[in-house]
Amino acid sequence: MSMTSANTTTVLITGANKGLGLEAARRLGVRGWTVFLGSRDESRGRAAAEGLIAEGIHAVPVSLDVTSDESVAAAEKLVRQHTDSLDVLINNAGTPGRGTAPAEVSIDEIHAVYDTNVYGPIRVTNALIPLLRAAANPRVVMISSAGSSFSVVTDPDQPISRIHELGYSSSKAALNMVTVRYAQALPDIKFNLATPGEIANRKFAATDMNNNTGALTVTEGTDSILELATLDPDGPTGTFIDRLGPVAW
Ligand SMILES: NC(=O)c1ccc[n+]([C@@H]2O[C@H](COP(=O)([O-])OP(=O)(O)OC[C@H]3O[C@@H](n4cnc5c(N)ncnc54)[C@H](OP(=O)(O)O)[C@@H]3O)[C@@H](O)[C@H]2O)c1
Repeated sequence: MSMTSANTTTVLITGANKGLGLEAARRLGVRGWTVFLGSRDESRGRAAAEGLIAEGIHAVPVSLDVTSDESVAAAEKLVRQHTDSLDVLINNAGTPGRGTAPAEVSIDEIHAVYDTNVYGPIRVTNALIPLLRAAANPRVVMISSAGSSFSVVTDPDQPISRIHELGYSSSKAALNMVTVRYAQALPDIKFNLATPGEIANRKFAATDMNNNTGALTVTEGTDSILELATLDPDGPTGTFIDRLGPVAW
């Protein structure tokens, strides 16, 4: 395959075969960006990439299971065959887990959620840091959730305060801290968090994760992701936003 031209912006998105990841891929692709479309299932990833290519987007399917060191290493190698720098990494892949009640949940269930939602973004980020460092304005976007926020979860007016589970919300809270710590340690790379919903309006985006019950479209749901993916060199790092603005931790 040919080398991606040096003046094309490049982005790798995990879990991009559907939902918000696929919509972010489409929206960045129509801007002329080269999109490395991560999918843990190769055939679903290829099908999604073919759909984007049919729209004229330069999409490259990348087999990528964020829970596997080997898969992440192979994905980095494939990206490197196309480009010697990566402008943007979007850690979007996530799992809600089964949402078992706190008193009954197994450690295996919690571990699986953390493997995808916390260890996954760390695995992928660390593998891609050399390629990110080779870009002029590298940006990492982490996809968090309203459930990550102590302010939201402890607000009795927020429906999530009455959804009792341990895995998803605490994994996203851990992801928030991981992101802030990366931002402090690596000032040459921007690390910011986006949540796809509108926290003030208790809205989320319709995807398979919520059986498509969200009040926002995937396009609206990706507004915050697009904002962080397209930050200027003088943009912020270590911040948490939704499409309406800053979010309380
Ligand atoms: N929808 C919302 O309003 C909302 C709100 C808060 C946060 N989020 C976050 O937004 C992100 C995207 O979710 P979504 O709403 O678009 O849900 P979705 O349509 O279910 O998409 C989830 C994506 O993550 C992928 N994935 C899961 N485990 C993976 C793994 N181990 N390796 C690689 N990919 C994996 C899925 O792949 P498969 O197709 O193979 O399962 C799928 O592509 C998640 O991090 C989620 O927590 C969404």
